[in-house]
Amino acid sequence: MKLTGNKILITGGASGIGLGLAERFLQEGNIVLICGRRESALKEVTDKYPAIITKVCDLSAEAGREDLYNWIAANHSDLNVLVNNAGIQNWMNITDEDFYQRAKNEIITNIEAPVHLTALFSNLKSLNAIMNVTSGLSFVPLTKVPVYSATKAFFHSFTRSSQYLLKAKGIEVIEVIPPALNTDLGGKGLHDAAPPVSDFVDAVFNQLKEGKTELTFGFSEAMSKAGPEELNNAFSRMNPS
Ligand SMILES: NC(=O)c1ccc[n+]([C@@H]2O[C@H](COP(=O)([O-])OP(=O)(O)OC[C@H]3O[C@@H](n4cnc5c(N)ncnc54)[C@H](OP(=O)(O)O)[C@@H]3O)[C@@H](O)[C@H]2O)c1
Repeated sequence: MKLTGNKILITGGASGIGLGLAERFLQEGNIVLICGRRESALKEVTDKYPAIITKVCDLSAEAGREDLYNWIAANHSDLNVLVNNAGIQNWMNITDEDFYQRAKNEIITNIEAPVHLTALFSNLKSLNAIMNVTSGLSFVPLTKVPVYSATKAFFHSFTRSSQYLLKAKGIEVIEVIPPALNTDLGGKGLHDAAPPVSDFVDAVFNQLKEGKTELTFGFSEAMSKAGPEELNNAFSRMNPS
């Protein structure tokens, strides 16, 4: 995909990785739109970057996704890039009392929402690229986040199929595969020891410039290339008994 002159919507673009991508795409000469549930977080971004266009949206509701698409189709029909970045991460055990409800929320936000948005936005005539934010945990699960890891494995698989299926429509599908990074994902403090988002964004843009469609960094690069033995060893390291 070209790196400048795009009109890009980044879901969950007011914080963490989405914000890192939004800042960089803006610097590179793109029109950037972001959406998320918290109006206050969106406002903080526009206070700093008045050029960024914002929209409050709740992607966990089917109506929220349709509302977002209809708003884009009516006001920004020249949008050409969708970044499916919004996601949640629940640290939990299957034996927790609220496990099923939290699992359901995670499946809706991390799977149902981007699948639905992909279907909706591929109807947009100008759309020529989709970036899906999966995870290094797509390849090997961290059992502290059992359903999250599984949602990312799903999204990785769906992204591969989307790359194949949307080619005919002239839509390039790019997988963005972060390792653990220092954001508030899963709750404040859980990712404090991880590398900063800026390092990851630098790596992503270098790979985009090289025309790559699977963008990795550190742990996620290793896991995306690993064979079964390496994946088993990683599982044991990450989930000591
Ligand atoms: N940080 C990591 O270690 C890491 C590693 C691999 C992959 N990832 C992936 O990277 C993506 C971004 O995560 P992050 O680390 O940047 O964490 P984050 O700062 O918590 O970002 C998640 C974003 O998603 C938005 N969001 C969540 N639920 C939403 C909903 N129902 N409707 C609309 N927006 C929603 C949040 O905004 P609101 O709360 O305002 O809605 C927030 O801006 C996620 O898909 C995550 O799985 C992160």
